[in-house]
Amino acid sequence: MSRHALALVLLSALSVLAFSRAGAVDAPASAVAEATQPSAVETPRPEGAMVASAATRVLGPQTFNPPKLNMTLISGAGDIVDAFDLVDGLTFFLYYSASCPHCQHVAPEVARLAKALDGKVAFVGVGSGSNSVGELAEFKETYGLPFDSYKDYTRRFARDNNATSTPQLLLVRPTADGGFESLGEWRPLAGGLVLLAEIKARVALGENPFSAFRAGELHGSNACGGCHEQELRSWGLTHHSIAYWTLFEDEDADKPECVSCHVTGLGTPGGFAMDEPHSPLAEVGCEACHGAGGPHVPGARVSATAAKDVCVTCHDADHSVRFSVERALPHINHFNPTAFDPIAFRAAREDLVDGKAPRPMTAFPEGKNLGDDACTDCHKAEAKAHRKNPHSAAMKTLASRSSTKDMACIGCHSVEKTTPAETPKDFHDQGVGCESCHGPGEQHVAEGGGTENIVGLGESCPVCVVEAICTRCHTPEQDPDWDLEKALELSKHR
Ligand code: HEC
Ligand code: HEC
Ligand code: HEC
Ligand code: HEC
Ligand code: HEC
Ligand code: HEC
Ligand code: HEC
Ligand code: HEC
Repeated sequence: MSRHALALVLLSALSVLAFSRAGAVDAPASAVAEATQPSAVETPRPEGAMVASAATRVLGPQTFNPPKLNMTLISGAGDIVDAFDLVDGLTFFLYYSASCPHCQHVAPEVARLAKALDGKVAFVGVGSGSNSVGELAEFKETYGLPFDSYKDYTRRFARDNNATSTPQLLLVRPTADGGFESLGEWRPLAGGLVLLAEIKARVALGENPFSAFRAGELHGSNACGGCHEQELRSWGLTHHSIAYWTLFEDEDADKPECVSCHVTGLGTPGGFAMDEPHSPLAEVGCEACHGAGGPHVPGARVSATAAKDVCVTCHDADHSVRFSVERALPHINHFNPTAFDPIAFRAAREDLVDGKAPRPMTAFPEGKNLGDDACTDCHKAEAKAHRKNPHSAAMKTLASRSSTKDMACIGCHSVEKTTPAETPKDFHDQGVGCESCHGPGEQHVAEGGGTENIVGLGESCPVCVVEAICTRCHTPEQDPDWDLEKALELSKHR
């Protein structure tokens, strides 16, 4: 997939939100208000307050305009049939185009759904007017659809049912007065939403809606977000929601050893697969923390709190600086305010995708920078190596440009004594020092050493941890030829 295509997918991601807004009936105002209250700042977990804010919409009754089925279609055998004649009790209409990539993408999910509901719900494929009957037959064959498709040769099915894009899924049922009612509309039908369609059908059949969750299988964040709107929105503003993109941007998305922690379920059955970059599992999604199906697989309830134990499987010492669950949780809290209007929400998401969102976890420990002299006694070898390194000459370099008093330069060429540094006097004059890379040493020195009070970079994953520290100064403007591997080699303590 091209960078452009993936960027578009990312920005239009959270398609459930788009879907729920485009739905025929908006959420009850009360549900929206409930979903957007930032009350959680004081109470991190108001019991059930925002849980499944949108669930009523998926589980409960909804009103849609009645479907229009008063038109003819052509069957694969060339017969002209009335669309309403194809309705057989509870019926799904899949409207699609054989050449549309989104349709090809959801086709296997629809095929699975049709098999799961076999004998209980009828399925009818409607191909857009631009398809030949041959193309529709080939699509059925390729994706194993267990039902027939008809061509919308008059294009009236599309026009009368507001089918401005493909694919779409409609759930209809005959009414007592001889007409039809619509029980659900998924337009566009994005990956993962098929689960919501199944839930709706199971409700209509009087079955347990949660029996739609498949034990041991991953469903994707979109599916969860259909009922958990606030959780989906807050997640959509965390780095977890772009973890695969991060690798893609750096051209590391083809390395399974990297991808494993940056997606959901690599190497597990039904989990992310290396050759499916547009999979809804191409991020650290809901199920990476809550397990396959979350708490909803019948008979397999897991508490939400259990997700706290999962963090360190990815945030281990090598891949996260000074990680602690307590320090990290507030940054991924589902109750964080997201009640922006659609434009502000998109802007916040764009900032995240563009790498402009803050990264609070890579922040250094609290305390003062003491300067290199405070380290030399105990770290003679590193100090000796450091003196030969260009970093220690960074202020001399500024002197050669008569810029040692220029606040626009000092920040990257030395270490500050006091924060916030306001004048040149607020900096040590030893160049880029130990604490530029290892963080303030005040606590570490007071305690006579230690590993929890200083950022040790020794065993860390260079790209996950170290690079973020270097690139605060080695920005694209200052160092256009930056190459992490080479730079690390040149700045080793030896
Ligand atoms: C059909 C709507 C629906 C879908 C889809 C859905 N949920 Fe839920 N979820 C609910 C409802 C309703 C509750 C609150 C009632 C309950 O706890 O069962 C809930 C509760 C939860 C809880 C809190 C459980 C607890 O013990 O506090 C978690 C976690 C959760 N869901 C995760 C998920 C994940 C992950 C997915 C996707 C795999 C998902 N949900 C999909 C409706 C849904
Ligand atoms: C499947 C692996 C995985 C799991 C499980 C996981 N994370 Fe992450 N987390 C990541 C990755 C990868 C990133 C970086 C994503 C990026 O920037 O592209 C990240 C980023 C973060 C960030 C933002 C980092 C920053 O610099 O500020 C926070 C905060 C965070 N995770 C907290 C948590 C917490 C809390 C948990 C457990 C409840 C958790 N994570 C579970 C993989 C994971
Ligand atoms: C064991 C799990 C794990 C593996 C394996 C892993 N990562 Fe990460 N990665 C993380 C976590 C966790 C974070 C978030 C760190 C934080 O902010 O605290 C992260 C963050 C990152 C970041 C964002 C750094 C930033 O601050 O901008 C990049 C880039 C990255 N990883 C690339 C890679 C590459 C490339 C590989 C393979 C060489 C890789 N990761 C392998 C877990 C992992
Ligand atoms: C990085 C890990 C992580 C990810 C990703 C994640 N969650 Fe959670 N979630 C948690 C943790 C941890 C808690 C429990 C917080 C607590 O108990 O303080 C939680 C709590 C919940 C709850 C119960 C509290 C509430 O919000 O009402 C629900 C429901 C939930 N998550 C759903 C989701 C859904 C849906 C997604 C995906 C859109 C998701 N989570 C993604 C870690 C995660
Ligand atoms: C009183 C002696 C002492 C002083 C002064 C001292 N250190 Fe250390 N430092 C240690 C010891 C001992 C360790 C090894 C801790 C261990 O491995 O348990 C250590 C470890 C480290 C580590 C590796 C941490 C890790 O996670 O592996 C770094 C980085 C470090 N020091 C940087 C500094 C810096 C920067 C300064 C100056 C601000 C400094 N030290 C001053 C004694 C000292
Ligand atoms: C506080 C800002 C700062 C940080 C953090 C920083 N550098 Fe530098 N770096 C500089 C400056 C300034 C120079 C130029 C020094 C001079 O020549 O005067 C430099 C020069 C270098 C050079 C030699 C010039 C070159 O590009 O070939 C290497 C290699 C290097 N840095 C690698 C790193 C690595 C690796 C990290 C992270 C582990 C890092 N730097 C972190 C500011 C920084
Ligand atoms: C955002 C951080 C940053 C700022 C601000 C900054 N520098 Fe640098 N500077 C660097 C880094 C990183 C290098 C090493 C890059 C390299 O050598 O490739 C460097 C290298 C240099 C060099 C040696 C290499 C060369 O290009 O000749 C000089 C001279 C220099 N800087 C002067 C300045 C002056 C003067 C200012 C203020 C106007 C300034 N710098 C502001 C980060 C910065
Ligand atoms: C440009 C960034 C940078 C500067 C400046 C820097 N270090 Fe380091 N330091 C690193 C990196 C990267 C590593 C891990 C890779 C390595 O061992 O070279 C490291 C590793 C270490 C370690 C752990 C070695 C181990 O075997 O685990 C210690 C101790 C340390 N540095 C101390 C210092 C001291 C003391 C200074 C100042 C005299 C200093 N560092 C200056 C980047 C830096």
